[in-house]
Amino acid sequence: MPKRSSSKRISRRYDRLAFFYDLMEAPIEKSRFASWRERLTDRITGGRVLEAGVGTGKNLPYYPPGVHVTAIDFSPKMLKRARKMASVLHQDVDFLEMDVQSLAFPDSSFDTVFATFVFCSVPDPVRGLRELRRVCRPEGRLILLEHMRPGNPFLGILFDLINPVVVRMMGANINRRTVANIHEAGWKLQVEENLSSDIVRWIEAMP
Ligand SMILES: C[S@@+](CC[C@H](N)C(=O)[O-])C[C@H]1O[C@@H](n2cnc3c(N)ncnc32)[C@H](O)[C@@H]1O
Repeated sequence: MPKRSSSKRISRRYDRLAFFYDLMEAPIEKSRFASWRERLTDRITGGRVLEAGVGTGKNLPYYPPGVHVTAIDFSPKMLKRARKMASVLHQDVDFLEMDVQSLAFPDSSFDTVFATFVFCSVPDPVRGLRELRRVCRPEGRLILLEHMRPGNPFLGILFDLINPVVVRMMGANINRRTVANIHEAGWKLQVEENLSSDIVRWIEAMP
């Protein structure tokens, strides 16, 4: 079982950040993230879609038409902002307060499961990725846009050294070995594309 205390601590941290989150990220959102998110529109397939860690709802403008999205997050305050975003965009999304490490959906519930910049802060990322695999149907797809530990040994060690400070400030780890975690959770990697050196990557996988 994931440690309840670390989930609570991190969700509270995002609750505290929720008010400033979009403002804080605005420069990088405009210069980099938005163009990467645009890919979601083409890559999300099937009628039933799960977004894990929806945050303030920054991916909502990129949901393709004709899909039904269920969006979860364990921070009530981030979710509140995502709901507001959905009402501004007139989008019908099911928002649920839920931990990706223990999803309350039956097996094979979704055609596409996806997350952007989430698995850096999930307390037990392998457990979260296993849960996503469980709720994804066998022919479905996982899409991730994530930052992770760089492959360069010097940079990797540097990221390890500064990670505790970033975790304390933001609740996010900058040295997660997310590709290894995806394999460990049983996913079959289909696409791995470096977007910003090998630190930010676009990932697609099948159960
Ligand atoms: C860095 S923010 C990214 C938000 C959004 N996906 C985006 O691209 O802007 C990470 C989000 O994941 C959520 N999150 C982290 N761990 C989670 C977990 N175990 N279960 C559900 N949500 C989680 C946080 O509450 C936060 O809203």
